[in-house]
Amino acid sequence: MDNIEIIGGNPLRGEVEVSGAKNAALPIMAAALLAPGKSVINRVPRLRDIETMLQIFRHLGVRCGWTGPHTLEIDAADLSDCAAPYELVRKMRASVLVLGPLLGRLGKARVSIPGGCVIGPRPIDLHLKGLEGLSAQVEIEHGYINARAGNLKGGEIYLGGRFGSSVGATCNCLLAASVAAGTTTIVGAACEPEVIDLAGFLNQMGGRIAGAGSPRITVEGVKELRPAEYNVIPDRIEAGTYLIAAAITGGEIVLHGGRADHLDALLERLQAMGAVIGREGEKISLRREGGLSPVEITTLPYPGFPTDLQAQMMALLSTVPGISVIIEKVYPERFMHIAELNRLGAEISLEGPAAIVRGGRKLSGAEVMASDLRASAALILAGLVAEGRTTVRRVYHLDRGYENMVEKLTALGAAIRRLEEQDI
Ligand code: EPZ
Repeated sequence: MDNIEIIGGNPLRGEVEVSGAKNAALPIMAAALLAPGKSVINRVPRLRDIETMLQIFRHLGVRCGWTGPHTLEIDAADLSDCAAPYELVRKMRASVLVLGPLLGRLGKARVSIPGGCVIGPRPIDLHLKGLEGLSAQVEIEHGYINARAGNLKGGEIYLGGRFGSSVGATCNCLLAASVAAGTTTIVGAACEPEVIDLAGFLNQMGGRIAGAGSPRITVEGVKELRPAEYNVIPDRIEAGTYLIAAAITGGEIVLHGGRADHLDALLERLQAMGAVIGREGEKISLRREGGLSPVEITTLPYPGFPTDLQAQMMALLSTVPGISVIIEKVYPERFMHIAELNRLGAEISLEGPAAIVRGGRKLSGAEVMASDLRASAALILAGLVAEGRTTVRRVYHLDRGYENMVEKLTALGAAIRRLEEQDI
């Protein structure tokens, strides 16, 4: 397994291009299964999760692959198999997004239940509730979801859960409802930009979806969807991670190709801390004038502060003198990175779903272990300011969600390199 090694101390300066959003590309890829023909998806990031989805598609009989650096062609004309096996689904929970399209195209689906997850329990009850609301019969047997639908029928579905709305369940319902007979209303729908992007692609395919981006989405089912071409939105979490990296190192960066309007909660908190943010068209910049102040952060579904930036923000706050508080409301157990940040010299303690960050301690390099994708990013950001050498192990997590992170950080002036397994 590869490691990443960082020598801390260099402020990041320069410009960086934002990649396409993984979490928008995955449901859009799933939507391509609904049309018997060739869809083209542009601005898809080259990431391990995308490759996992392609493996699942091939298993289902779909022809798919890269036709350009960031262009995917998905030809679902021969979609024939309805089963997504554990071997593939266990690698990525988002595989469960094939449920809706398989039901819509083949009237049946057999998808392994995704296994445990380091960021906390991640049930799929809302996905199943949504599909049942469209008249699918769902059974759980031998670790698999077996779903059948003679004819999917539109209905009124409430998708609010214990932790708010669910992005994945909203996407699965949109996918199935697009080809269900009649009208579906999803109440308590997730409002994330990735849901809007999925609806944009489905509408381009001939779907009739209104209200995406609000908690009430209406879908007029159509008989058949046609293949389409689409450009995925920029990755707001990747963009946010680089802005936080600039803030933690005291540098100045300009992001290109981002969407500041998808990052309001982060930009507001960074400004409250004293960072200077610029927004101009597709450019977002950040610089620091002097020190930063501690803040309180509560993660919430969009447009609240994203849970996927919580760990990176914790790394930043651990360097800011004073006491900051982070409350995690989406995944109350998503705090595995605390122990590793503390190994670098941070002083963070957990009080229930709240992390108390006593910031301003000097960080010093150490060997640390990444537990999930965003935790890996947080450890790298901490390593950028820690004195001396930080080695982040288990960086395969990073390959799931950050395109060319080492190259991008190097171009911004970081002293960072990837050590391939044979070099370690
Ligand atoms: C998406 O996961 C993202 N993944 C996650 O990003 C992100 O952390 C999450 O949304 C929240 O923003 C993709 O888009 C591929 P949810 P998803 O269903 O859809 C509970 C990353 O690092 N819930 O919105 O699986 C759930 O336990 C990843 O890129 C139920 O109770 O998340 C959580 O508390 C990690 N029942 C809350 O809802 C369900 O059936 C939100 O989860 C489904 C979810």
